[in-house]
Amino acid sequence: MLNIALPKGRLGDKVYKLFSACGYDCSVMETDDRRLVLSDEGGKVQYLLVKPSDVAIYVEHGAADVGVVGKDVLLEGGNDVYELLDLGFGVCRMCVAAPVGFRADLSAPLRVATKYPAITKRYYAGKSREIEIIKLNGSIELAPILGLSDVIVDIVETGTTLKQNNLEVIETILPISARLIANKAAMRFKASNVNPLLAALQAKATEGEKA
Ligand code: PRP
Repeated sequence: MLNIALPKGRLGDKVYKLFSACGYDCSVMETDDRRLVLSDEGGKVQYLLVKPSDVAIYVEHGAADVGVVGKDVLLEGGNDVYELLDLGFGVCRMCVAAPVGFRADLSAPLRVATKYPAITKRYYAGKSREIEIIKLNGSIELAPILGLSDVIVDIVETGTTLKQNNLEVIETILPISARLIANKAAMRFKASNVNPLLAALQAKATEGEKA
């Protein structure tokens, strides 16, 4: 049996649809219950429903053989896993955003609020800019509004959250999308289970590119 860690929430719904289209029955996901381990009808796979930011941890430790995770989570966590495929959805970008009209005081460290301290540190180290990181776990956009930070580093998808909070992108750091990842040992010992899934997802991704 193949253990697959799937993210709950926004990315989750897209993942369930893709897996179903690839012949991996995901109808169990549509049941509105609180179970976190679900098996498909054929007993071919077991789905583990986890917090998006935890997917790579389950896969790295072998609690799941494969998983679907945002590139942002991979870059932040630096997990020791194989990245097998760019799934081409969950597309967004990692950005620096600030209140509209913001001007940085270059004589002081920049105060940056973020859920992504590792990405943020690397980015500003590359620019030799001194910063102070304020680590938050959500609603990052609130920080500059309240004067808790000067700017934020966060993902921007539609841009609606920034706009509605009178913030704007001032720098784009990286493009982000969903990736299929695998546990290193599973790639050796469960290749006969992992490879058909990879091939099916690859075929769908190519179909999507052509469409
Ligand atoms: C993410 C991100 C932004 C928002 C961007 O937050 O942190 O707040 O989505 O999306 P948009 O550009 O389409 O508006 P999420 O919804 O994951 O919740 P969070 O604030 O709890 O992190």
